[in-house]
Amino acid sequence: MLYSLVLLAFATVINADCYLHNPRGSNNRLNEQSANRNNGDRLFDSQNNNRGGYNVGDKNDDAANGATSHVETFTLNTDQATQYQMMFYEGSKLQFEWTNQHGCGGSEVNDTQKLNCNLVIQYMCDVDRFNNNNGAVTIFSDHSMTVDMRDGATTNTIEDADNFAEVDDDPNPDRGRHESRGWYYHCEKRFRNKGLFHADQNLNGDAAKYTRQNPNGNRRGLECPEERDYYPYWHVTPWIDAAYLTDDLSFCQTVMAGNQNNNTVGYCDGLIQNDETVPITESACTAKSGIWKTFNKGLPAPDCAAAGWSRTNHLGNGRDTEALKYDWALPMVDDLISTGNADKATGQQTDDFLKCVVRVRYNMTTDDYDPKMTTSAMDDDEDNGFFSPVRQNPEVDVGLTTLQGLKLAVNTAQFGRTFQDRSHIFYIKKRPDPTKVEWANSNIYNLNIRGKRCNIVQCFPAVEYDYIPRILEVSPGDAIHLQWTGSNTHNNGNPAGDGQAGDAGEGTGGTDRGNWVQTLPGAGRGTNYPLPLDKFTDNIFTRANFWQYDYAEGETLVSGPGSNKPWVNAALILATSGQFRSANDPGLENFQELLNDAPASLVGGMMIHFPSNMALSPNLPENKEEITYMNTRNNNFSNRSQKGVIVLKPKSA
Ligand SMILES: *[C@@H]1O[C@H](CO)[C@@H](O)[C@H](O)[C@H]1NC(C)=O
Ligand SMILES: *[C@@H]1O[C@H](CO)[C@@H](O)[C@H](O)[C@H]1NC(C)=O
Ligand SMILES: *[C@@H]1O[C@H](CO)[C@@H](O)[C@H](O)[C@H]1NC(C)=O
Ligand SMILES: *[C@@H]1O[C@H](CO)[C@@H](O)[C@H](O)[C@H]1NC(C)=O
Ligand SMILES: *[C@@H]1O[C@H](CO)[C@@H](O)[C@H](O)[C@H]1NC(C)=O
Repeated sequence: MLYSLVLLAFATVINADCYLHNPRGSNNRLNEQSANRNNGDRLFDSQNNNRGGYNVGDKNDDAANGATSHVETFTLNTDQATQYQMMFYEGSKLQFEWTNQHGCGGSEVNDTQKLNCNLVIQYMCDVDRFNNNNGAVTIFSDHSMTVDMRDGATTNTIEDADNFAEVDDDPNPDRGRHESRGWYYHCEKRFRNKGLFHADQNLNGDAAKYTRQNPNGNRRGLECPEERDYYPYWHVTPWIDAAYLTDDLSFCQTVMAGNQNNNTVGYCDGLIQNDETVPITESACTAKSGIWKTFNKGLPAPDCAAAGWSRTNHLGNGRDTEALKYDWALPMVDDLISTGNADKATGQQTDDFLKCVVRVRYNMTTDDYDPKMTTSAMDDDEDNGFFSPVRQNPEVDVGLTTLQGLKLAVNTAQFGRTFQDRSHIFYIKKRPDPTKVEWANSNIYNLNIRGKRCNIVQCFPAVEYDYIPRILEVSPGDAIHLQWTGSNTHNNGNPAGDGQAGDAGEGTGGTDRGNWVQTLPGAGRGTNYPLPLDKFTDNIFTRANFWQYDYAEGETLVSGPGSNKPWVNAALILATSGQFRSANDPGLENFQELLNDAPASLVGGMMIHFPSNMALSPNLPENKEEITYMNTRNNNFSNRSQKGVIVLKPKSA
């Protein structure tokens, strides 16, 4: 049968991917030594290639031998082989970085890659919205909206609940968990939205786990497929919006009116306990004797902004050759706790920490049907002679009577498709007491390391090492939270799926190592030699204050121009990734020069605070000063480079 597509000119095969690089996206990996992930269904549906993603961090030079996500991990000088979760200060700026394969942005009609796309950045933190500590918000007479996350110790998928009585059970404490079992149980019991466009896909059931992209209702982690595929979502969700990036800014109106941060959402309570199917409208809910309730997170609306342009079929950088990014200002701990959207991290006596995860969804489609206006009214209905505007692998008539037809590659489950990546768990920490810590109210910029060991071909679609942001502009008075994490099991071995196995790189196979040393000042960005600190005493260590964090001690000053503490210690911590924290530490004489014995993570990070009265030594126009730095192990010139720049600029008036 020949079938004419009116808008043939725009027909495009949609096959894309989306990988988060900072903070490191898991792509469902945990600690695999193979290039392929073990289990693409572990926590969520990425729809990505099996090769992308980064392992969870290790705290020391040994691979973690179990799961740990608790704040005691931030204790310095313990040599346990545990996981490391990053710690970011509340209100600090985090450069959120990703790659998306099919391009985005470029809504001009003359753009050859014209497509409709958006990115949704959301996070959630541990919270018990039912037995909420503050009583601020309680929702559902069960625990479906409770968040109690862990990275897990094995790559198996957590089991779901067979009936309501099991939703709070935890039969697999060693398996990773993001959403709760109650959340997924609700998804299986709640009606899906029947108004959505399904083209010619036959959905296997009436629950929210069946969608056009997932017609068989396959389960990944405890994610609800319908909530995953659509935004803004009409039913309550535990995810909190950070940003919506789009090629079509007129859609921001819909985002403002439909986001769940500051809009009220209704839901039907009281039916699921009896294993009844749960309606999604008020009238259907009350007709079944359910209780219609409303919920509002009471948070500021998400940022809605233009998505950066990137080229289609190029899993790479944006227009200006910098990676696609969003500068995320992390939420304040008290704002989330007082509104009932987070609880103190599990096991914590104080509410200094929140335990969180962030996800990015990348969504795109073409102009072959209007993605925002097409509803189930346009679904295929062959018996009545009605054909969906897009159909599976159609043979199309190009108007040549002698030609049977040309076949298009169209998968209607993926025509209009959503990709996803999620971080491993990280902590958001309260700022310290301003009477004790001089930078407590400063602008804080996170400076991190992305990437994993291997060469470009072996790593792909993950990336090699780099500092993030590569070029960071700050002023006197600002602070930089320098922190990195790495794995000891990035061996990138077989199976390697669509790519090459191998872990080319420096030092012990499979290990990531970060460090930070200043390079020769004034020589520009092209140098690859560290600065001999004893000969150039006008170095960053004599000019800025350096603070470390320890779980028991809190924030403590390591060195600084106004203190009598030796700055060598700060330099030593950064050069050895915290293996040595004082020039008096025993064992320094046996230091392994490629950092093989150093920790894979800089535990607690290092806060570099530039005093507000610090004088700049301009070596750039506009009175700016440039501080260049490198990683000594991974900067194997001509093969790989790991260097970065801090630009100090005068404080703006
Ligand atoms: C597309 O049109 C815009 C103006 O609408 C122009 O600024 C841009 O340069 C054009 N791009 C190309 C590739 O011609
Ligand atoms: C993706 O785009 C489709 C329109 O093509 C829309 O219905 C859906 O809500 C979007 N999903 C997300 C997660 O943005
Ligand atoms: C949510 O916040 C946005 C942006 O501040 C605002 O435009 C909108 O009116 C708010 N919505 C409600 C229901 O308060
Ligand atoms: C630098 O890279 C090359 C090629 O990958 C490797 O043979 C060499 O050992 C590396 N240098 C160091 C010091 O690891
Ligand atoms: C860089 O790596 C290539 C192999 O990939 C090797 O032939 C070359 O010697 C390396 N260069 C250096 C400086 O190590």
